[in-house]
Amino acid sequence: AALAVVASLSGCGFAEIRTPRSTAGQVDFRNPLHIPPLAEPVIDEQSDDGAHRIFELTAQTGSSQIVDAGPTETWGIDGDHLGPTLRASRGDLVEIRFANALPEATSLHWHGMRLPAEADGGPHQMVEPGQTWEPSWRIDQPAATLWYHPHPHGQTEAHVHRGIAGMFILDDDEEQALDLPREYRVDDVPLILQDRSFDSAGRMVETSHRNNGMLGDTVLVNGTAEPVLDVTAVRTRLRVLNGSGARSYAVGFADGRPVTMIASDGGLLPAPVELDRVTLTPGERAEILVDMEPGEEAVLRSFPQELGITRGMADTTGSRDELDLLLLRAATTLRPAPPMPERLVPLESLEEREAGTVRGFELRTNRINGRLMDMDRIDEVVTAGTIEIWEVWNSHGQPHNFHVHDVQFQVLTVGGQAPPPELAGWKDTVYLPPHEPVRLIMRFGEHTSTEVPYMYHCHLLWHEDQGMMGQFVVVDPGDEDDVDVAPRLDQ
Ligand code: C2O
Ligand code: CU
Repeated sequence: AALAVVASLSGCGFAEIRTPRSTAGQVDFRNPLHIPPLAEPVIDEQSDDGAHRIFELTAQTGSSQIVDAGPTETWGIDGDHLGPTLRASRGDLVEIRFANALPEATSLHWHGMRLPAEADGGPHQMVEPGQTWEPSWRIDQPAATLWYHPHPHGQTEAHVHRGIAGMFILDDDEEQALDLPREYRVDDVPLILQDRSFDSAGRMVETSHRNNGMLGDTVLVNGTAEPVLDVTAVRTRLRVLNGSGARSYAVGFADGRPVTMIASDGGLLPAPVELDRVTLTPGERAEILVDMEPGEEAVLRSFPQELGITRGMADTTGSRDELDLLLLRAATTLRPAPPMPERLVPLESLEEREAGTVRGFELRTNRINGRLMDMDRIDEVVTAGTIEIWEVWNSHGQPHNFHVHDVQFQVLTVGGQAPPPELAGWKDTVYLPPHEPVRLIMRFGEHTSTEVPYMYHCHLLWHEDQGMMGQFVVVDPGDEDDVDVAPRLDQ
């Protein structure tokens, strides 16, 4: 049933909105969607080979009015809850001064970024309370919607849950040449989806883990419960991130209008793809376009989905739930939109015949290839600049996905079949349907270290915290034998 919303067109105040409960989603949309501010660089110097941008970020404790019972104790970066959106262009030299004013050690990982392992912000780059960490790297990858979050081993779920997360948008010339909405906040809006539960005092409940991690009954978008986005353009670009720990979402529109997907984790698709729903498991992103008529409303909803997992598990990822996420409410006059582009950017396909090494990874009962994460063990050694195929296999009935640091990969096959178009672009996180091998192809970067590893892991954060993670180093050709790598267990 379509939602009948009686809203004041004068736009003066959300108290006047009366939204009857929808039959499915049970959300009384009434709060203006918070849109994280763009981080202002403290230094932004232009030069011929790209800008030099320095960002200062401070992780801190805070308090936010999220639900009626609140305020809720939250964590944030430069604010009470979540963090600002960082933005940089291909070729820029980015420097971060990250200060930890939290009561616990944490780290800040740049999810999806190609960068030196020392700048990665994984569990080996911990920042103690009161300390500052200063990574820097040059942006060397296509325009994309990346994100950042803490990565302290064993504590990632809790630190993300309390509110440390934000977007990192990358721009490049190819994307700028397309006629796409790109005015941040106006027609280009990030949507960070996170499910939370609150107790009667408004505290976020951090204890109910079940099998796959914390699952909440309230979906926050950018930290806002029951959110409304006032739409001012015919076409809006939504950069959707699944920032949850365990829940997966199948995002579509309640009125059945299609979702036009233009980008996956690592950048634009070759052409827009029209879908009923976009499925996002934890850590995955999709950029979607939505066209609206003046005065119209649309509800973004997560629909029940088939993840192929055993029955009891479905309830612990929320995949059977139908949840309303966001009310989009169009103004009576809208900025016009050009025709939808037919093509976006050509995709350079990585060729299987160019791959030197094939590695297998079996995910089962919180282990990868039979082992739990060990900070002191290197599991794989990779040669810089080479192309590899990783065959990843969820051999059990539990839901898992797979994320690799420092690379964007392409999906060759899922269960022996070519991937659907929405999975055919650049990805850094992919869902692993049980019992179906997923073959990935990736080219490793030129940032090398025989000491500091990158991670690969399940991005269901509780699984990751439990040890479903391994470590690889990328080394210069000829240095492979300098690394003390753990022999594989018999599988
Ligand atoms: Cu989004 Cu290893 O992380
Ligand atoms: Cu998992």
